[in-house]
Amino acid sequence: MSADGTPPRMMPNNIIRFSNRTGWDPSPNRLSLELDRLRAEGRTFIDLTQANPTTAELGHPDEEVLAALTDPRALKYEPDPKGQFVARQAVATVYAQRHAAVSPEDIVLTSSTSEAYSFLLRLLCNPGDRVMVPRPSYPLFDYLCDLNDVYPDRYRLYHDGRTWRTDLAYLEERFENTRALFVVNPNNPTGSSPDGAERAGLERLCAREGSAIISDEVFLDFPMDPQRRLVTMAGSKQTLTFTLGGVSKAAGLPQMKLAWIVVSGPEALKNEALRRLEIVADTYLSPSAPAQLALPSWLERGCAYREAALRRVRANRQELSRRIGESGSGVELLECDGGWYATLQLKACFDEEAFVVDLLRERQVLVHPGYFYEFEGGHHLVLSLLAPQAVFAEGVGHLVSALGGQNIKVK
Ligand SMILES: Cc1ncc(COP(=O)(O)O)c(C=O)c1O
Repeated sequence: MSADGTPPRMMPNNIIRFSNRTGWDPSPNRLSLELDRLRAEGRTFIDLTQANPTTAELGHPDEEVLAALTDPRALKYEPDPKGQFVARQAVATVYAQRHAAVSPEDIVLTSSTSEAYSFLLRLLCNPGDRVMVPRPSYPLFDYLCDLNDVYPDRYRLYHDGRTWRTDLAYLEERFENTRALFVVNPNNPTGSSPDGAERAGLERLCAREGSAIISDEVFLDFPMDPQRRLVTMAGSKQTLTFTLGGVSKAAGLPQMKLAWIVVSGPEALKNEALRRLEIVADTYLSPSAPAQLALPSWLERGCAYREAALRRVRANRQELSRRIGESGSGVELLECDGGWYATLQLKACFDEEAFVVDLLRERQVLVHPGYFYEFEGGHHLVLSLLAPQAVFAEGVGHLVSALGGQNIKVK
């Protein structure tokens, strides 16, 4: 009621305006409709897309994870825009173990890798600016870019018959006016990690054009080959580089919401980036004190979980490879350097969506069609390797027999 007693003027609902950036197409795809139907009927299925470490039976040390949250220092509000020093020190130790010299002063904590992307896009881009994101890759990039008014152009990763490579020539051609280049190392879902020559090419290009690299390394601790170490881009002196990681994968604790940005590059540029980034972070101060204080313990104790997850993904990949090999079904399990995913490539092009919907409906097994990740050609399927081994083996048995059967409708 207003001061003179008349009722306040209400805006009718139909003239409320929403931002263009949230005008996403709400129509569900056929796979999500089928999933809704199964769930509504109370039916269960084998989820070969499961990538949630907290439900994957990896033997988390639950009591220690919780005990780390009870540090009494959390009772006092002593915000630091970059994050608590002890937490940044623990992150620096992780990079020392990864053979990269990183100072705690060059680290900024965020509540998630997604938030880190947002901070960086706010730091680097004006509305309408262009960034380059890999294809195929992580499907969240479009949303992260939309929400920050940035245009996500694509650069190609191509399969050279053995592994996925960056199409540097394509990037060279289209790179002008690019504010930032996204690298996912190792990539989700191809599992590919750029080799030394690719990294050098990307750094040269970005340094030349005055662009920054954003290297998402949430899966860096998960090399597929036990003899191999995946190489971080943190510590680069050549070009401004932001390296992302977080407890979501490194400690298997996505619910704890803590991640980090490591800033590296030529000294003056790095310092200017840190100065500005600190103000962005100070505006939100988003990571909670208990989580920050728990980080040293989570990262240290995360070792056992990481080993368990690595054993799991390697064993599941071996099982998948064996079953695919035995089936002689014309399906190839593509090589990968690391991460939690496996990509299957079929020789013939087929209707990926019809196949995954049929697989779910008829055999109660869920996998993802390659187009979710923008694989070209319509002949890929993507699986997570994180499910418990017995569940994974059962699901793969159904998948392989569906692939070998009549269910593939060649376009
Ligand atoms: C490549 C990649 N980056 C980032 C994330 C999300 O990380 P966070 O939970 O820290 O936002 C994921 C989640 O699967 C991912 O696949």
